[in-house]
Amino acid sequence: MSRYLILNTGAKMPTIGFGTYLLQGDALRSSLDYALFLGYRLIDTASSYGNEADIGQVLRDRIQSGRMKRKDVYITTKIAKTHLKRASTIRCLQKSLHDLGTSYADAVLIHTPWGVVDTGPGSDTVEFDDVHFTETWTALQSLFQDGSARSIGVSNFTVKQIEQILDNGSPPPSHLQMECHAYLAQNKLKAFCDANNIVVTAYSPLGAPAYPVDDESERERRLLSDPCIAKISERVRKTPAQVLLTFLMQRGMAVVPKSKTNDRIKENFDSTNWKLSKKDFDIIMGLDCGVKYFKFKNRTGHPEFFPQEDF
Ligand SMILES: NC(=O)c1ccc[n+]([C@@H]2O[C@H](COP(=O)([O-])OP(=O)(O)OC[C@H]3O[C@@H](n4cnc5c(N)ncnc54)[C@H](OP(=O)(O)O)[C@@H]3O)[C@@H](O)[C@H]2O)c1
Repeated sequence: MSRYLILNTGAKMPTIGFGTYLLQGDALRSSLDYALFLGYRLIDTASSYGNEADIGQVLRDRIQSGRMKRKDVYITTKIAKTHLKRASTIRCLQKSLHDLGTSYADAVLIHTPWGVVDTGPGSDTVEFDDVHFTETWTALQSLFQDGSARSIGVSNFTVKQIEQILDNGSPPPSHLQMECHAYLAQNKLKAFCDANNIVVTAYSPLGAPAYPVDDESERERRLLSDPCIAKISERVRKTPAQVLLTFLMQRGMAVVPKSKTNDRIKENFDSTNWKLSKKDFDIIMGLDCGVKYFKFKNRTGHPEFFPQEDF
């Protein structure tokens, strides 16, 4: 299994990264420090995760004590849905860089193609912003030119939306981050990205087991307890999580599993050193059933929000 994917900028991106959604404070600091100790070299965060200052603290401690250099770690961050207007996008990345304690991010992604007005902390109101993501994209292109973003890309975009980005001059996107796992193969998007030299990162690669479900019947569709995955994992003597992660990396994607549990952080990292047989790989490909855990339902009605069938 290759430990890196090569971007269209020529840069290398590790194939396994540490996801940090829902991780903050002490739990984030101790689990990230352990992950870096083990050898994880990609950190996936976002301005909306509220944990960039915690990540910055871990990095500063490791760099100042000589245990790591900034260039040894690949940091992906994302521009929040409330910051899609040009000036706001630039401010958003500046704040992320300040909190992370670095002068550049290795990858900066537009978190979602739909913009939302910032209605204040704790507010449940969702008010759509009329800004178009192509405005955000030109802001990212200038951040790439000034060196604060070493590569740029998108997340949660459809093929049609990426085509609009590709029509927007240079540089083209290097990344797509999308929900992808054994129940959601995303074949169309993956083939499109391969054809356009865009590296894909699978988020929620384990099926986001802690994410709230709409109704209890959905819990039965939890990927980590799939009987077919259980059978394969028993046969190959790997854990279900390792089978699921290896499967995605074998498809040529990067994965960013999140865990606050040391044993799992290690278990996930150890999925890079073995391969599935073609037969088992094909069986897992056959599990695709279009189950999407992140439905972003409160974006329904936004002109850039599309159901999964249209991806
Ligand atoms: N671009 C986007 O819009 C977007 C959306 C969602 C996620 N992401 C990124 O993708 C990352 C991963 O996605 P995710 O956090 O949604 O889901 P995930 O990585 O599929 O699942 C995380 C959950 O799985 C558990 N887990 C981790 N390793 C395990 C193992 N070996 N065995 C059993 N359970 C295990 C974790 O529990 P413990 O922590 O309790 O160990 C946690 O509850 C995020 O953290 C974030 O960085 C991006």
